[in-house]
Amino acid sequence: KRVAILISGGGSNMLRLVEDMTGDHPARPVLVASNDPSAAGLARAERLGIPTASVDHRDFPRDRAGFEAALLKPLLDAQPDIICLAGFMRILTPEFVTRFAGRMLNIHPSLLPSYPGLNTHARAIAAGDREAGVTVHEVTPELDAGPILGQARVPILPDDTPEVLASRVLVHEHLLYPAVLRRFAAGDRSPVML
Ligand code: GRF
Repeated sequence: KRVAILISGGGSNMLRLVEDMTGDHPARPVLVASNDPSAAGLARAERLGIPTASVDHRDFPRDRAGFEAALLKPLLDAQPDIICLAGFMRILTPEFVTRFAGRMLNIHPSLLPSYPGLNTHARAIAAGDREAGVTVHEVTPELDAGPILGQARVPILPDDTPEVLASRVLVHEHLLYPAVLRRFAAGDRSPVML
């Protein structure tokens, strides 16, 4: 299976996915693309010999469709079987998502369906939750709402700040996403619960 990974920043999740796609893993990375040409993850991917691309969404103000049309070019050239959104911070239109229905994954730092959207850790702390976590799900037109492919639960400690909690959750993201992609690429959509 050919995997394209979309990032917006450091790409720590992308890195873990790439590092896991070796040996008997049924998938291989074929492209790392970003909406930000300065995303540090692009340099990390290049160092690993993975083709990269970037389309600056700021070149398409109030033109989401134009941005996506530009992003589609390198994406389709890579002929991916699976697309992994990994720290990708742009909302994709239903038209774009529908093109890859059933084969686009995203990682979201909360226990969906709780806390779709942004600032998930601050919201969980403010709500007095004792648990946070991370979800990998299939991407559907509705934001952060597709079928769940994996979850990991993470304790919230009494004096947690959102930053401290985010770093604790990130460790579990790095374990969950590769485990889900291995299973998904082998054709198994049963959820990975860590
Ligand atoms: C992290 O906060 C993670 O929770 C979310 O995207 C952010 C950056 O991830 N998935 P990465 O280091 O770019 O993979």
